[in-house]
Amino acid sequence: MYYPDELVEEVRMKNDIVDVISGYVRLQKKGANHFGLCPFHNEKSPSFSVSGSKQMYYCFGCGAGGNVFTFVMNYENYTFAEAVKLLADRAGVNLPEMEYTEEMKKKEGHRSRLLEVNKEAATYFFYQLRSPRGEAGYRYLTGRGLSKETMKKFGLGFAHVSGNDLVQYLRSKGYKDQLIQEAGLAGFDEKHGMHDKFWNRVMFPIQDINHRVIGFGGRVMGDAKPKYLNSPETMIFDKSRNLYGLNFARTSRQNNVILCEGYMDVIAMHQAGFTQAAASLGTAFTSGQANLLKRYVKEVLLAYDSDGAGVKAALRAIGILKETGLSGRVISLEPYKDPDEFIKNLGTEAFQERIRQAENSFFFELRILERDYDLKDPESKTRFHREIAKKLCGFPEEVERENYMQAVAERYHIGFENLRKLTASYAAQTGLVSPVARPKSGLAQKRNTPEENRKKMQRLLITWITEEPGIYPKIAKYITPEDFTEPLYRKVADRLFDGLSKGEYQPAAMISMFADEEEQREAAALFNTKLTELETRQEREKALHDIVYTVKKNSYEYYSERMGAEVNAINQVIAGKKALEELSKTHISLDEG
Ligand code: CTP
Ligand code: MN
Repeated sequence: MYYPDELVEEVRMKNDIVDVISGYVRLQKKGANHFGLCPFHNEKSPSFSVSGSKQMYYCFGCGAGGNVFTFVMNYENYTFAEAVKLLADRAGVNLPEMEYTEEMKKKEGHRSRLLEVNKEAATYFFYQLRSPRGEAGYRYLTGRGLSKETMKKFGLGFAHVSGNDLVQYLRSKGYKDQLIQEAGLAGFDEKHGMHDKFWNRVMFPIQDINHRVIGFGGRVMGDAKPKYLNSPETMIFDKSRNLYGLNFARTSRQNNVILCEGYMDVIAMHQAGFTQAAASLGTAFTSGQANLLKRYVKEVLLAYDSDGAGVKAALRAIGILKETGLSGRVISLEPYKDPDEFIKNLGTEAFQERIRQAENSFFFELRILERDYDLKDPESKTRFHREIAKKLCGFPEEVERENYMQAVAERYHIGFENLRKLTASYAAQTGLVSPVARPKSGLAQKRNTPEENRKKMQRLLITWITEEPGIYPKIAKYITPEDFTEPLYRKVADRLFDGLSKGEYQPAAMISMFADEEEQREAAALFNTKLTELETRQEREKALHDIVYTVKKNSYEYYSERMGAEVNAINQVIAGKKALEELSKTHISLDEG
């Protein structure tokens, strides 16, 4: 994963971003920038901009942005290393073998041995299923309507009855007992010694987005319990950050992912042509998984079981999608239990129709909520309306809230003005959203955690400095890299400020400082936080002042809490106090133009 910084930078410099993106998107020069239709969301008029001077791109419609590496990563669904490779080839730069530190070598070595042993086990199961000993498994899967091709695509396999066949096989391939155990493929007890974890089950290898086997689910062929047995979490198998089927779904070129609960559901949907289906791994949907999905799509369609547990799980998932900024719709599978049964009974076209009719997640929530109330009873009905108003406060953006209010008022026959008043009164009570429109300010009013707000402010400041390096000298006396309390931001600020103080300015280079893919994406976002369009100079000055003040105040509070624990804290607190006092009296002035 690690190439030397200088080399990454060389690759970046030799790949002009306008040239590279022109190979994918039709760009037109307008002023200093180039514009085109954004490849990351659907649009009719161009809001995707590429800046030759900054060597960055940014979409004003969907907020996608970054440098040339980020573009290739997002467009091609590549890892950072893959993107570096592609661009190095394009520019004729020779890449050496990857560089690893000793510790990384050890860790990577262990990871790859775990991956290897899983792959070996998957191969073993795969051939078992297709051998005479696997007949029962083959018959079971065929009986469930799976074609030979489908079984192959998902690498399905079989673990037969005998006690430690897999262990013996893996040993014969040179794997140590400890590794086999650590991979969750075998258990150990005094009486039986090493014994296979999976036996007499059809096997579903679980793959990460790069098609590497990271674990297994195994299903009994009858009604025995437990129905499914899954690999435990290991160094390579994090159930909260992977999704079954996403390795295929992410390249399905659909603008949504269908999220369901079961392995068989994913497989049945793929077989029917819905190749955008994925499922969580026998555990509840997590925000880690939502973030993973967010890389590929904006919308998630929930195809959860139609029973009580499924509805409850769907409601939870909706909350997580909302927090992540993904929009959600719910597919009704009635009268069937899950997508697999639905498709088997009603077929592909009927399922396609259900996708088309999928319900907006907010209305789904209300419809479920409604079940707890008796709408013929005025008192119960009033309570229901109050709950609706409370939920409406969850939309921080006024236009969106109004649109929902209108739709809800119509659907539930509530007077629009009454609903608006009720919502406003809850909003005021809870302080969730501002009931009256506030004057424009650079600080967007969103309902976020203090932690999120702190990060947001730091992001805004870094974006602003990158967009207008000219403000650096004006704020340098108040803000230092230490004020960026988020470690990743701090790293960026260190480099950015160091460069600016010497008159150097290469924002696109900074994104490549991060080897980890997630960090890369976050760093790219850091330079592209949406700045509210502010018209007048006064507005801009006030917004900048507010942001600088808030960042400093957060930093002051952060270090105050850490006095005694962190060596440097006391200096930060003293400097912070002084800067805050000064800032509260001073005005930061921006020159026009
Ligand atoms: N699951 C599990 N352990 C169990 C039961 C279920 O890990 N004992 C997980 C599996 O990932 C399974 C999902 O929960 O795919 C959904 O479970 P369920 O609805 O019970 O099974 P189906 O997917 O409908 O499986 P099948 O159609 O094979 O009966
Ligand atoms: Mn099922």
